[in-house]
Amino acid sequence: MPRTCLVTGSASGIGKATAALLRAQGHTVIGADLKDADITADLSTPEGRAELVTRARELTGGRGLAGGPGLEGGRLDAVVSCAGVAHFAPLTIRLNHFGAVATLAGLRPLLTAGTDPRAVVIGSIDSVHPTDPAIVDAALAGDEPAAVAASWAAVDRGEGHLVYSSSKASISRWVRRSAITDDWAGAGVPLNAVAPGVVVTPLTQPLLADPDMRGLVERSVPMPLHGHARPEQIAPLIAWLVSPENTHVTGQVVFADGGADAALRGDRTW
Ligand code: NAI
Repeated sequence: MPRTCLVTGSASGIGKATAALLRAQGHTVIGADLKDADITADLSTPEGRAELVTRARELTGGRGLAGGPGLEGGRLDAVVSCAGVAHFAPLTIRLNHFGAVATLAGLRPLLTAGTDPRAVVIGSIDSVHPTDPAIVDAALAGDEPAAVAASWAAVDRGEGHLVYSSSKASISRWVRRSAITDDWAGAGVPLNAVAPGVVVTPLTQPLLADPDMRGLVERSVPMPLHGHARPEQIAPLIAWLVSPENTHVTGQVVFADGGADAALRGDRTW
């Protein structure tokens, strides 16, 4: 049965591969990205997040703000939130946490109008690395100005790398908290995160091209099974999690990481 799916970050990397796979499976995909997408929106900003929801409604048969006085209607069967950056800067928490939450929560009313609705956000193996509790706590409290201030503080003390790991830890914890609530489980919508190890995309290519950085990446993300992944090797897991076949997997952070999580965290967690 063809489904209507919305994928953010659809112009590159994991989002692009996921959109291509879902289309190859016969589904309609609405892509959202900064450019080269059905919906162009900057999801690090409140305006861009509002634009995403408005346009998604319009494109799926509802009314956006431009179409009338109300903001209603529209339906989606799956949402995949892939848009993300790894800058040592507050933009990373704005997009990776607040942009993803706005995508998932903002499109949730369209999902609950859909058929066998499902949602996935991309986490990261970096979520098990050291984080900055001030950033994570502010993000989980929904306090974007405080999360941005804490990110600037991390940058100022030379720990800008913590912004990315914190953004992935906070969105993973948000998934686990939210998935079991009335809004998601109660509405019959599985909500999961997929946490890749190192995937060769424009996000990681500059790092991997530098021998020193590559060595650092390989030591911090050991991948004994099959090494670094291609985006096409992550997309099938995402596609399955948002398929009607997934009836009971929810609130999970599924590591698709060649064994990195098991290598880093051992058998203390499961
Ligand atoms: P990518 O750079 O190939 O794709 C990211 C996409 O997000 C791009 O098309 C970009 O234009 C879009 N984007 C960036 N800023 C945006 C904004 N403000 N608003 C809307 N769209 C925006 O990166 P990749 O590797 O495909 O990353 C996808 C997700 O996977 C990210 O959340 C990333 O953190 C995560 N991830 C990637 C890993 C990797 O090794 N490549 C590992 C673990 C997680």
